[in-house]
Amino acid sequence: MEKKFKRTTVTSALPYANGPVHIGHLAGVYVPADIYVRFLRLKGEDVLFIGGSDEHGVPITIKAKKEGVTPQDIVDRYHNIIKDSFKEFGISFDVYSRTTSKTHREVASDFFRKLYDKGEFITQSSEQYYDEEAKQFLADRYITGTCPKCGAEGAYGDQCEKCGSTLSPTELINPKSAISGSKPVMKETKHWYLPLDKHEEWLSKWILNDHKEWKTNVYGQCKSWLDMHLQPRAVSRDLDWGIPVPVEGAEGKVLYVWFDAPIGYISNTKELLPDSWEKWWKDPETRLLHFIGKDNIVFHCIVFPAMLKAEGSYILPDNVPANEFLNLEGDKISTSRNWAVWLHEYLRDIPGKQDVLRYVLTANAPETKDNDFTWKDYQARNNNELVAIYGNFINRTMVLTQKYYNGAVPERGELTDYDKQTLQEFADIRKNLEHYLEIFRFRDALKEAMNLARIGNKYLADCEPWKVIKTDEARVKTIMNISLQIAANLAIAFEPFLPFSSEKLRGFLAMPEFKWNDLGSIDILPTGHQTNKADLLFEKIEDDVIDAQIKRLGGIKKKNAEAAAEAEAKAMAASWKPEPVKEYADFEGFEKLDIRVGKILECTNVPKSDKLLQFKIDDGMGGRTILSGIAKSYPNPAELVGKQVCFVANFKPRKMMGIESQGMIMSAVNSDGKLVVISPSKEVANGCIVG
Ligand code: MF3
Ligand code: ZN
Repeated sequence: MEKKFKRTTVTSALPYANGPVHIGHLAGVYVPADIYVRFLRLKGEDVLFIGGSDEHGVPITIKAKKEGVTPQDIVDRYHNIIKDSFKEFGISFDVYSRTTSKTHREVASDFFRKLYDKGEFITQSSEQYYDEEAKQFLADRYITGTCPKCGAEGAYGDQCEKCGSTLSPTELINPKSAISGSKPVMKETKHWYLPLDKHEEWLSKWILNDHKEWKTNVYGQCKSWLDMHLQPRAVSRDLDWGIPVPVEGAEGKVLYVWFDAPIGYISNTKELLPDSWEKWWKDPETRLLHFIGKDNIVFHCIVFPAMLKAEGSYILPDNVPANEFLNLEGDKISTSRNWAVWLHEYLRDIPGKQDVLRYVLTANAPETKDNDFTWKDYQARNNNELVAIYGNFINRTMVLTQKYYNGAVPERGELTDYDKQTLQEFADIRKNLEHYLEIFRFRDALKEAMNLARIGNKYLADCEPWKVIKTDEARVKTIMNISLQIAANLAIAFEPFLPFSSEKLRGFLAMPEFKWNDLGSIDILPTGHQTNKADLLFEKIEDDVIDAQIKRLGGIKKKNAEAAAEAEAKAMAASWKPEPVKEYADFEGFEKLDIRVGKILECTNVPKSDKLLQFKIDDGMGGRTILSGIAKSYPNPAELVGKQVCFVANFKPRKMMGIESQGMIMSAVNSDGKLVVISPSKEVANGCIVG
């Protein structure tokens, strides 16, 4: 049942304004959405591309508290950084607004009010943690305590970051308020709920029967939610940051961030088009598409549609092409661990290479499964694909046109069979390219565009105009005419993917007008048309650029590992208790041990071991070598040289890593797990007995 639409509303998830955006955001949501929108615009379709920042929610308030500023300060800062990054990367929003705008506050408020008046909510009371000192209810993230699953300290009310378990705040042992540090109490609170259970039937039919064409990852996630059956969802929160619940008796309560944020799509449309916004949201001949990441699927496929349906006058999304996640050098991207390539830093470190990143992120997009971004792959794709194929073809075409015809497009003569075969191949590409774009398979679509460049490259290599020019000038005119037409086709085909390079190429070709429908034509540039002197379309990226990025990530990894080790030691120390005393022993047993004092003359790491230190001890008896597994506690072994220590002198010598150890250095095991060598309280003779 192919429906004909008059226009398309494209939304892309509103990123949280509590940090800058990174390559994962770009790859998962914004580049695909932008490719699609540019494709529709090129085809001359009516399309609106909506973006904006999501500025409510608990994490923003936590960040503000940490920095000692207001939540508004936080969102002002990041909204601008994010907006600039998107602009720099050519994400061609028609509007990029924010959920703290006046329009949004009104639209979201009215939306809630309408559902409230229609009786679309239920209210439920429940007991929730309350901080009596701070006089406020505590969001899950504002409660910390001991994890009931693994015993780790500092688990949050919604999750333990140590073991990864999902928790509810009442499960925490010894809960503490993160605001005042006091012990929270249970207190009753009332909230509004959207009864999703009442929407389950139509949602099931609408998704599972009517939208079998949705991507399998999206369809599958929806199916598993529906199979588990839907529960009422709270749409209000006890919080002082957000849009006040606009009904009586709701003091101190705000709309849940996931209630107001998707309405932001509507508000931003209204802000842009105060008089005509409704047709983009309410006309059944409008097609609505949500571009999102996989963690947003349930909200866009189930909750938001239920809200729209409950309101009654809105259309529902036609498709929700959600992507999976992008990893970075094998690890999950993480804002809190700073494991990311931030867009504003990329622009600073590798300026002018927006299209290279757009290319790599599309070629490697996490469309059907999580994918990995590596700097080596980034470099290889730039050097071996953009430079060696696309750039090389354009460069040769432009240089030869200058050389032979002073930049003017030569006249095309009769086509050979080989010419015709080439043109046939490239007619097929248009079909494939469009097909893949229409079904949101942008990796495959990009491959088709690149194949067009491959065809051009091969055509030039096979035809060898630089040789033929010596014998058949007329033939070279045809070859160069066709090459120039292929170049013009490339400018169109790549426009959705690499808008900056396309613009540059159109500049080379002096090609101001262009439309999608010209794709496949060999009459884009008329005979005699004057092209410009060109420079390089893409440049090689050298190793030092890549090495600097890899080094930066290495530094972050090291820092994270150190911080984790430190946190672990701290947690250990905090929960430390002395071991119970062992059972009675007799003196004879003790007397068998020969414990002595000696001076450390040398102390070095044992090669290839991260545990062992090798000691040279002055034992008053000619010296001995002792190995001890305390290297992790003494990262700088030289600090021990000159100290006196206690050691067991009569253990049987034993070989480790090829070295004989003649005894054992005695150490205390500290509360943080670190070992500390035992020294006499004042200098004594080397070799004297401890007893
Ligand atoms: N801020 C959310 C996130 O980053 C996305 C919100 S999408 C919207 O996961 F629809 F709610 F706007
Ligand atoms: Zn845990």
